[in-house]
Amino acid sequence: MRIGILGTATFATALATGWTRAGHDVIVGGRSPERAKAAAQASGAQARPLSEIGEGCDAVLLSVHWEGIADILAAAGAAAGSLAGKPLIDPTNAVDHGYGVLRTEPGRAIAHRVAELAPGAHVVKALNLFPSTRWTTSSPSPSAVAMCGDDPRALEVVGSLVRDLGGVPSVLGGLDRARQLEEVAGFVIALAFAGVDPQSAIPALPQP
Ligand SMILES: NC(=O)c1ccc[n+]([C@@H]2O[C@H](COP(=O)([O-])OP(=O)(O)OC[C@H]3O[C@@H](n4cnc5c(N)ncnc54)[C@H](OP(=O)(O)O)[C@@H]3O)[C@@H](O)[C@H]2O)c1
Repeated sequence: MRIGILGTATFATALATGWTRAGHDVIVGGRSPERAKAAAQASGAQARPLSEIGEGCDAVLLSVHWEGIADILAAAGAAAGSLAGKPLIDPTNAVDHGYGVLRTEPGRAIAHRVAELAPGAHVVKALNLFPSTRWTTSSPSPSAVAMCGDDPRALEVVGSLVRDLGGVPSVLGGLDRARQLEEVAGFVIALAFAGVDPQSAIPALPQP
């Protein structure tokens, strides 16, 4: 697949690395061409201007700090429909680090804001829970990647990209479940900052 990545920092570079290793053609762009070039060099991807990131891509990853979402989607031409019809993966966490409190208003998810800013894009909330290192280092057991979205084809595409990273996709439901996935990230972040292993706060249920 051809995958476009909006963002050039840690998470963008980690996933670009995972997907280029899996044989995909990855392009990255950000507001700094120099940082895009560095992310591309580090990951085996190619750097492109933000206005070209949606072009010809089978999927696009939005990988910027949540406060930069509107700016980067605007620069990528999303308002004019550049991402329409494409799976748009949203791993962003609009969370106060340290406290884990969501910065979105009650009942709303940042994924809903992403959908508003990218009309026609098939937003899939995914990959927001594990740190980037999970996808760059091997793990003894595969991790389930909970995701949600409204478009079945987009969920299939993102599920396949999750498998390519070494994860196991698990579809929770439609995009109306995105708030729940974002709250889970807040829960995990809050416990981790308090020095508690989040896995110790989840019951170990018998496997079916
Ligand atoms: N890091 C992880 O392990 C991890 C795990 C799960 C989910 N996530 C999510 O993935 C996203 C990226 O995380 P990160 O840790 O790589 O980086 P981050 O520190 O959350 O964000 C840095 C990135 O956001 C960009 N950015 C910030 N404001 C912007 C604006 N106004 N316009 C355009 N770009 C802007 C930065 O661009 P400049 O370089 O130009 O400043 C940089 O590419 C975040 O939403 C995060 O919640 C991260």
